[in-house]
Amino acid sequence: MAQIPSELGQLFQGFSKLNLTERLSRLQSLGILNSDDLDYLKKGGLKDFSLGEKFIENVIGYFQLPLGVATNFRIDGKDYVIPMAVEETSIVAAASKTARWIREKGEIHTSVVGHEIIGQIQCAKVKSFARFKEQVLAQKVYLIELANREVAFGLVNRGGGVTDLSVREIDRGDGHSMAIVHVMMNPCDAMGANIINQVCEFLKEPIEQLTNEKVTMCILSNLVDTKLTKAKVSLRGVDPELGSKIAEASLFAQKDPYRAATNNKGVLNGIDPILIATGNDWRAVEAGIHAYACSEGSYRSITKWTWDGEILRGEFVAPLVVGIVGGVTALHPTAGLALKLLNVRSAEELSRVAAAVGLTQNLGALRALTTEGIIEGHMKLHIKNLTLGAGAHEKEIPQLIKKLEEILALRKRISLSNAVEALKELRSSNSPP
Ligand code: MEV
Repeated sequence: MAQIPSELGQLFQGFSKLNLTERLSRLQSLGILNSDDLDYLKKGGLKDFSLGEKFIENVIGYFQLPLGVATNFRIDGKDYVIPMAVEETSIVAAASKTARWIREKGEIHTSVVGHEIIGQIQCAKVKSFARFKEQVLAQKVYLIELANREVAFGLVNRGGGVTDLSVREIDRGDGHSMAIVHVMMNPCDAMGANIINQVCEFLKEPIEQLTNEKVTMCILSNLVDTKLTKAKVSLRGVDPELGSKIAEASLFAQKDPYRAATNNKGVLNGIDPILIATGNDWRAVEAGIHAYACSEGSYRSITKWTWDGEILRGEFVAPLVVGIVGGVTALHPTAGLALKLLNVRSAEELSRVAAAVGLTQNLGALRALTTEGIIEGHMKLHIKNLTLGAGAHEKEIPQLIKKLEEILALRKRISLSNAVEALKELRSSNSPP
């Protein structure tokens, strides 16, 4: 196996073969986690219910998800340990395996285009849209300065804040117009939801006074097409048949919404676990990505792969607004730990890393789907779950896994009833005559 040349090479080498205690020790020995972090993880994470009560209402406990780390990622020349909180078998393994492939044969580059998030102020039925627009735009600078002075001053101090206002007309279909004010704001390292909502609600009164129209509602938009995250992968030395099959699979997802939905789910398999681990609002990101996937009129893939006979190129473009300060990110100790593992310095860096992992996950899925199919790799890893589901005891598990692997190799599929049946057989063959 090729050596991984990097400072984190020691961490990545054979990481998946270690047991849990060894994995933690390795992270500690490399100075990525300290002994307090290890104690916290070994004790099962969050236990303090008063924290849960700060987040939501009617708390009765915590729902624990496994937290793993994907290895081998080198993004924009920097090595990353990727924390992933997720329940689905094989996501972490596929991400790590595909990242290794890219590390050996290519590279990942990322960027963020635009800085502003969007808030919306709705006036449901205006007497004259033209007059409304003229009045708001005439006072644009005053409204921006007012919002920055009274509400977004913290962001302004950090180099962000409200930067622009625009007005859109929506045809109501009843002969009247709806007017929407878009408020553009740079949230710096926060996701910015609370602050943009506060800004929009604050602007309600001045806009009503200026225009003599009624504001109906104020809320951010998750379709943040003003701040897009891009990730690009290029790979050389790919088997030409595989390269061309991956490009064909990608074309399928670009042309067919049924396939695009599943393709994008696979991309989100890489993104959501990072968002969950870092305490980010994954519903907001999901909503934004799916809405953006429709921006050309019909639902399509947010990734694209092309093969020119030499280089396999992949691209991800979508809104991916996250934060590394404020909200749950700041309060949840596991989110703090995940951010420490990631070692990102800005919200944009986190967004770029998540996009890169999403694109990598997509490549892993397309590679599996166009070669051995998804069942083989997935099921090999899923077999352990089936043994538990069938009720096998710790001592029976290795033998049952062996039996199920034989069944899988033979029939190319496997289910819980196979596991139950195999366990029955195992017990009867093991019981004394
Ligand atoms: C399964 O969680 C994800 C895949 O369906 C993604 C895809 O089809 O591209 C394998």
